[in-house]
Amino acid sequence: MAGDASTVPVVTIDGPSGSGKGTISRLLMERLGWHLLDSGALYRLVALDALRTATDLDDEAALVALVGRMDVDFRLHPRRAEVVTLLDGEDVSMDLRTEDCAAAASRVAALQGVRAALLDMQRGFRRPPGLVADGRDMGTTVFPDATVKIFLDASAQERAQRRHKQLREKGISASLPALVAEIEARDDRDRNRAASPLVPAADAYRLDSTRMSIDEVLEQAVSLLGTKGLMHGPK
Ligand code: C5P
Repeated sequence: MAGDASTVPVVTIDGPSGSGKGTISRLLMERLGWHLLDSGALYRLVALDALRTATDLDDEAALVALVGRMDVDFRLHPRRAEVVTLLDGEDVSMDLRTEDCAAAASRVAALQGVRAALLDMQRGFRRPPGLVADGRDMGTTVFPDATVKIFLDASAQERAQRRHKQLREKGISASLPALVAEIEARDDRDRNRAASPLVPAADAYRLDSTRMSIDEVLEQAVSLLGTKGLMHGPK
C-alpha cells in the first residue's frame, strides 16, 4: 500500500559514475540489512534491450513500450557478494557494464517518457525494513522524502582512473584517455538534460571522494546515518 511504503526509510546516494556510490550503496545496504535499488542498472537494461532489438535510441515511444515489456529481476549471487541482473531470465550482468551500454543508457535516460515509465518500478523497491537507492535523481525526483540524502562526487580524472582499474580487474581492456572523454561526455549529458538532471538535492549531504578511500567515505556516511538514528548494533 502506498501509505505504508512512504513510512519505510530511504537513504539516497546520488552522484556521477565512478564517484564510489555503487560500492558505498552496497556496503550501507549490507550494514543496515536493507534492500538496494541500483537505478542505473534499470537504464542500462533499457539500453541493452534496445541495442539487442535494434530499437532506435531516439525513438521515445518504442523505448517506453520496451520498458513495459521488460522482464527484470535482481538476485544475490549464490557465492559471490554480487547482485546478478536478469533480463528475460538471462544473466546480463556483464553485458550491462560495457561502455557501449553505459553510453546508450545515458542517451535513453535523457528521455522523459523513459524516466516516467521507470518511476513506479523504482518506487516499488521501497519495502521494509528500508531501502538504499543508488542513482542520479534518487533524492530529487524518485524519493524526495528520503530520510538521508548523500551526493557523492569526485574529479573526472579520478573517476576515469577508478573505472579503468575496475575494468582491468574484470579482464576488460580500455584506454584511460578514452575513458576520461567518455565520462566527461556522459556527465555533460546527465547534468544538462531537461528531465531530472544530475544535481544534488537541496537537502543532500555533499561528499567529495577524490582524495578519500572507500573506507573513509563509508565512515562518513555511517556517522551521518548515525546522527539520523539509522545505525544500530555493534558494527
Ligand atoms: O549509474 P550507472 O552508470 O549505471 O548509470 C548509467 C546511466 O543511467 C547514467 O549515465 C545516467 O545517464 C543514467 N541514470 C539516470 N538516472 C539514474 C541512474 C542512472 O539517468 N537514477
